[in-house]
Amino acid sequence: MEPIEDPTPAAEEISAEQAVTDVPISNETNAATVAASQPPPPLPPTSPPTTPAKKRSLGKIIGLTLLGLITIFAIGIFALYSTGKRRLQTAPAVTGNPVAVPTDAEAIERGQRLAQISSCTGCHTGNLGGEIFVNEAPIGYIPAPNLTSGTGGIGADYSAEDWELAIRHGVAQDGRTIVTMPSDHYAHYGDDDLGDLIAYLQQVPAVDSDWGPRDLQFGGTIIFGVLAYDSWAASSVDHAAVGGAAPAAEITVERGEYMINISSCTSCHAENFAGNAGQLDSPLGPNLTTITNDWTFAEFNAALQTGQTPSGTVLSPEMPWPLYSSMTDVEAEAIWEYLQTLEALPDNTN
Ligand code: HEC
Ligand code: HEC
Repeated sequence: MEPIEDPTPAAEEISAEQAVTDVPISNETNAATVAASQPPPPLPPTSPPTTPAKKRSLGKIIGLTLLGLITIFAIGIFALYSTGKRRLQTAPAVTGNPVAVPTDAEAIERGQRLAQISSCTGCHTGNLGGEIFVNEAPIGYIPAPNLTSGTGGIGADYSAEDWELAIRHGVAQDGRTIVTMPSDHYAHYGDDDLGDLIAYLQQVPAVDSDWGPRDLQFGGTIIFGVLAYDSWAASSVDHAAVGGAAPAAEITVERGEYMINISSCTSCHAENFAGNAGQLDSPLGPNLTTITNDWTFAEFNAALQTGQTPSGTVLSPEMPWPLYSSMTDVEAEAIWEYLQTLEALPDNTN
């Protein structure tokens, strides 16, 4: 192994070499001036004459390599951006699983209840007129659009097939990949329930409010279109498996799991229910895996109906209990049955 050279003699060698190569191409006067003002330092006796040239080419190689790496990095980032942009603008081709949509008043009423339980009215607001959902760097602008048939709303142009595709598959009518909306959970919607929900959506009173199109920034495009892409329903849902009948409305673990899916509890309490410690970009829902040891069903049901906890506090509306208050006792107890099946886990940490 060669000993590592001290940097000082190396610098001297370069200036000596520059002086040597400068002199022959200059005219006599300049050469004399240079010689007078900067007498070339003598070549260090130990340096063989070929070393400076080698050093220079090594420097050049390092410089070019760095430039190359920076270029490759820039091209790579731009390629990620382009990939992200394409994937977000054009979701994978998905064949929907259309449902029959009833028109009777009872169906519409059931649909209204489902719009609450699924928090459609949380993110798209109570009258479904929409609002700004995200508007911050480095993500960009994402409205939760106006779902009604009013000005700026999507409702007038949405067919029953379009609704199904957006809700259960995460693909908007214009073909873009829907981000942040929990369609990966809504993918579990039973056909009858979804028919009721669409029946409600199709006749909801028109609201005029235009929030404009989604406008993701450079960073947001890479984050949503590449890094988090696999979490959006359009890419993560097994589209062919979507559809069918919901588990019967009884106090069973299956019905509980279904209710948990269509109300998207895990969006804030984490997929393993052990609490969101900040991994999900949503409110910090606490660990629910131990709650069945600490609470009774009556206490749990009271929390969903009124926000009241056994310790006497009222849950913040970040926990959408005002929307869950429209759950029936059977639905709440089915969820309770499901929570019993969870292994007690320590709180998730970041
Ligand atoms: C967590 C918030 C959230 C919830 C809950 C939610 N949405 Fe959305 N929804 C959004 C956002 C944000 C967008 C726009 C996403 C985008 O542009 O990528 C969206 C987009 C949509 C679209 C596509 C509209 C278009 O531009 O073509 C439809 C349809 C829709 N939502 C319906 C619903 C329905 C029905 C429900 C309830 C079952 C629901 N949403 C629940 C946030 C939500
Ligand atoms: C949009 C986010 C969000 C969703 C969806 C959500 N939660 Fe929560 N949940 C929270 C937050 C935040 C808290 C803590 C509120 C507080 O302490 O004031 C909470 C608290 C709770 C609590 C009280 C826990 C305790 O130890 O005090 C229960 C029970 C609960 N959620 C059950 C559920 C169930 C069941 C669902 C689905 C039907 C659900 N949550 C869906 C955000 C959410």
